[in-house]
Amino acid sequence: MMPRAGLEVPLHIPARYMLVAVLSLLGWIVMAPWMITETIAAPLSYPVISWVHLLTVGCIGSMILGASIQLVPVALQVPFPAARIAGWSWFLWIIGLVIFEIGFSREVLSLLVPGATLLGIVLLLYALAITQMVRTAPHRDAVAWHLLAASWFAVIGFGIGWMLALTNVNGVLGGRMLPILGAHIICMIVGWVVLTLLGVSYKLIGMFTLAERQLNQRRALASGILIASGTLVIVAGILLASPRWPITLATLLISVGVVLAILEIARMYRKRMRKAIDVHMPFAIVALTGLNVSALLLVIISLEDIPLASNLTITAIWLVLTGAIIVAIQGFFYKISTFLIWLRTYAPLAGKGPVPQLDQMYRKNLAYIGLGAWLFSVIAIALSMVEILPLWSWWCAGLWIGGVLWCFNVVRISRHWFGPRPQISATPQPRSAH
Ligand code: HEM
Repeated sequence: MMPRAGLEVPLHIPARYMLVAVLSLLGWIVMAPWMITETIAAPLSYPVISWVHLLTVGCIGSMILGASIQLVPVALQVPFPAARIAGWSWFLWIIGLVIFEIGFSREVLSLLVPGATLLGIVLLLYALAITQMVRTAPHRDAVAWHLLAASWFAVIGFGIGWMLALTNVNGVLGGRMLPILGAHIICMIVGWVVLTLLGVSYKLIGMFTLAERQLNQRRALASGILIASGTLVIVAGILLASPRWPITLATLLISVGVVLAILEIARMYRKRMRKAIDVHMPFAIVALTGLNVSALLLVIISLEDIPLASNLTITAIWLVLTGAIIVAIQGFFYKISTFLIWLRTYAPLAGKGPVPQLDQMYRKNLAYIGLGAWLFSVIAIALSMVEILPLWSWWCAGLWIGGVLWCFNVVRISRHWFGPRPQISATPQPRSAH
């Protein structure tokens, strides 16, 4: 699917958000061998919270914002309502991120609320932009509803996170801090990130494998409704101090929603018209498996006495963040970044001379080796968290290898931003924008 003329935002705007995402991931990976032991020993210590947000806000949040600015107008076939605002919001986002990170890592607690507030302003603008696009879209499908719900979960999750930041300064939440932290984590990870990733996956997998028409809108929508309502019930249940059973029921709703989504994506793959194994596919399969395991763990955790004090909770958060979300981001990034940079550099040359094919812009074998190494670390560390394996910093070697190989490919792709690469063999332009 080619973007319709007039829908695209100047490419440097999403690219800036994506750059922050890549750099944050690199920083997070470099720190992993030192932080992983502390994460297990003292998950709520300030350095660990700072390290976690380098991944969740710095990498995942920035990537969602950057990719949304570029892809949502294409998916909904409406122009992005505020490209200039998205441009300067980047400065708010990065200043907010730096201040928030310094606040936790250096324990300058007075910086937490200002940093969080800047991040929140950007998330609110993002939700308003998505709402405006969904409102004016000619056709609202399951993807649109996923993105809309997810964007408002980001705002709610931020509101709760802001209260948590404040309580670190003046203790306003008192003894309720721990359950409210649970509401923040569920709202951000399940409500914002998982819903966004599933919505985006339906669109992207359809485009990459020519299976767009195979998506059953009703089943995709049902899955989204289950996940969103489960998240809402958990957040409301925690905030209103409800009994435990509605929360456990809600974790079941989320798990069923995730399984439905996975079945739908599996069906799209089976019925795809482009039969070759695309680079994103092994990443997507690993990510969906990680998501499924984490969703099942969520049900078990909801039965624990103090869920946030359980090793299983840390393991589930670890698996969903590193084994599902980051893996999906890595896989999709191969496709999205090559396509966007190809459009910028080679679309004006198409038909006038030789241009490279998309998969010549990176090394597929390195992408797969990187995925294998990453997966090894994710599993070994998860098993250490549940005390099946001893905890060694060496387990992080796979994260480093996976990260280095991914960055090697990202740099290879990014070089095309600055003009045609002479060493790439001349071939006709790609058949379609996938
Ligand atoms: C955007 C603004 C955000 C703010 C203001 C914020 C705020 C906070 C605060 C203050 C805490 C620490 C609570 C404590 O004192 O223990 C926290 C913890 C946490 N947040 Fe956020 N957060 C934000 C975004 C996110 C996102 C996007 C995610 C996930 C996708 C996330 C996931 C977590 C997790 C997993 C923890 C627990 C960390 C640990 O145990 O070490 N947060 N958040």
